[in-house]
Amino acid sequence: MSHRILLLGAPGAGKGTQSKKLAAEYGIEHVTTGDALRANKDMETEYGTPRSFMDAGELVPDPVVNEIVNAALKEADGFVLDGYPRNLSQAEYLSEITDLDAVIFLDVSEEELVGRLTGRRMDPETGEIYHVEFNWPEDEEIQERLVQREDDKEDTVRERLRVYRENTEPVIEHFRERGDLIEVDGEAAPDTVFERLTDVIEG
Ligand code: AP5
Repeated sequence: MSHRILLLGAPGAGKGTQSKKLAAEYGIEHVTTGDALRANKDMETEYGTPRSFMDAGELVPDPVVNEIVNAALKEADGFVLDGYPRNLSQAEYLSEITDLDAVIFLDVSEEELVGRLTGRRMDPETGEIYHVEFNWPEDEEIQERLVQREDDKEDTVRERLRVYRENTEPVIEHFRERGDLIEVDGEAAPDTVFERLTDVIEG
């Protein structure tokens, strides 16, 4: 069976963590607008650079992001899409370019989200995601090279959550109203959340 999975959730819900595992489990592409934009932060577009929006916690303009997703999905035979769509106009664009087999919402409370994001650290060499409290590497060499994302500072985190409530919650509501939304409780250890996800995908 082909897997075309959309994983929705607030910043810090665990979309990146779980998408990587799902991509490995099913041999599909992990398509994430966040990573694609971070890799091209200083690319000049007619709207300015992605960095100017991202570091402030705002959304990058739709035409830039739509193009990234269109190109990535064309090449993918099965995917887990993470970080897109983030507003209703992106959701409409997505429905024009592909069909989905599963739309999953990873549900996590706001208090938990802030703690997860401000404690997140990234390994610039491998792209691996860690957390100062919940998932700290034992290897000292790795510990030393971990960095915090610019937009994971507390003030920017709060702005990202505000942008999420304003723009992205209506997307979740849109899929819920269509009866397509599968809700998964994302407040448990990563392996438990992963089992819940594979259960609903294979169920
Ligand atoms: P993006 O990179 O997409 O960020 P996000 O959606 O805000 O999501 P995050 O990556 O912050 O969170 P996540 O859910 O992946 O959490 P993670 O697994 O890392 O976007 C960044 C920016 O790019 C946006 O602000 C915007 O400017 C721009 N952008 C991107 N897409 C766009 C679009 N479509 N349109 C316009 N602009 C766009 O987990 C978080 C932490 O929690 C980690 O430390 C992890 O170790 C820990 N953790 C994970 N799971 C658990 C668990 N079960 N228990 C305990 N800790 C856990």
